[in-house]
Amino acid sequence: MAGPTQHAHWSSRWTFLLAAVGSAVGLGNIWKFPYEAGEGGGGAFVLVYLAFVFIVGLPVLIAELSLGRRGQLSPIGSMAKIAAEEGRSKAWAIVGWSGVLGGVIVLSFYSVVGGWVLAYLLKALSGFSGYDAAMSTQTFGNFVTDPVNPIIAHFAFLAITIGIVSRGVQGGLEKAVTFLMPALFVLLVGLMLYSAITADFAAALNFLFNPDWGKLNVNTVLQALGLAFFSLSLALGSIMTYGSYLTKDMNIPQSAVTIAAADSGVALLAGLAIFPIVFAYGLNPGQSVGLVFTTLPIAFGQMPGGVIVGTLFFFLLTVAAVTSAISLLEPAVSYVEERTGIDRKKVAVYIGTGIFAMGTLSAWGQSGNVLGNISIFGLDFMGLKDFITNNIMMPLGGMFIAIFVGWFISRKNMMEELTMEEGTFKIWYFLVRYVCPVAVGAVFVSIIYNTVIAG
Ligand code: PHE
Repeated sequence: MAGPTQHAHWSSRWTFLLAAVGSAVGLGNIWKFPYEAGEGGGGAFVLVYLAFVFIVGLPVLIAELSLGRRGQLSPIGSMAKIAAEEGRSKAWAIVGWSGVLGGVIVLSFYSVVGGWVLAYLLKALSGFSGYDAAMSTQTFGNFVTDPVNPIIAHFAFLAITIGIVSRGVQGGLEKAVTFLMPALFVLLVGLMLYSAITADFAAALNFLFNPDWGKLNVNTVLQALGLAFFSLSLALGSIMTYGSYLTKDMNIPQSAVTIAAADSGVALLAGLAIFPIVFAYGLNPGQSVGLVFTTLPIAFGQMPGGVIVGTLFFFLLTVAAVTSAISLLEPAVSYVEERTGIDRKKVAVYIGTGIFAMGTLSAWGQSGNVLGNISIFGLDFMGLKDFITNNIMMPLGGMFIAIFVGWFISRKNMMEELTMEEGTFKIWYFLVRYVCPVAVGAVFVSIIYNTVIAG
């Protein structure tokens, strides 16, 4: 085969949107956003997160989709190709590399948490009756520190992901997302209403939207920035790869606004479903990774039809997690496929096996089990991988993408690719040229200043 192979395309604008929303909406919104908001102290963190989604994330989302569509290759291939066309250094391909490798690292812990969701789906089938704060906390703790079951669940979750990716994203994914993503949205609205009526909604609203700016510091701001990128699936090659399956007639800016709105909407819904339960039952909002697993089962145990609702919830959350996991694996698979021409099924299995091994460390690193209490810079394996990707690779990757489209591609070519109205284009261009690099840069400079200079 001469040169890199070209990808297939989405069958319609609607399937692209569902797939992109499927990538964006996942554990980042329903698992990560609530617990990070809880740890970050609530309102101030939430508002900073939302500001980052729309001021920094959305422009980068548009940039990534347009780079993918123009390149028509894997993130590494697209970055190299566009840099060459614009007469820029080949080194820009590093942004693609960082994305592809970052995606593999994220998937290695994402699929562990995906396994927890699968396991809870099984638990939900027999119901959560009698669950109170103590019991749900204990059940979660017992499960994640078990040496065997989380590994089986992690394996099962990855197997599903690999299975879909090996069929090709378009074929494997389009069917799954067409009505399951909308169903998740409807269910979350229902859960939020249930929480609002039966638990402490006022406390949740106050916690999530009444900012206590004193709780904010540079570290929580960086966390919120990373979460904005994470929840929008940015800087890990996923969105660029999905962009490469786009045809020229698709309106990128409009799609990006829809994706960002759906993404932050789901995060807020999840928060509004979870926090009323946290406050009504005296759970700890800062309890970290177990938050969603210890709160919602209490509600499922009490509501009429809770077995059905609970099962449906964990089923749809599994789907949401799988549609995101697919987009984490796809960039690496599409790169190897395009470079070597090896069958994508084999590639997906090889890469997936490596990810399984890396993920097993994360699963065993949950305190108290097989690996004991190993900690690196005060973090377990999962926390460490999360920190490196969420707080370093994603913000920096996003910053370089913004700099690339803002300063290294000619304005005329960007205009042509995006076909926006002049006025909207100007706003977007200003955001990627100045606001995104300065915002990300400022957060990093303050962190370095605080840790290195101020001590
Ligand atoms: N956005 C996904 C989620 O919120 C996770 C993800 C991050 C997927 C980066 C792809 C790339 O669950």
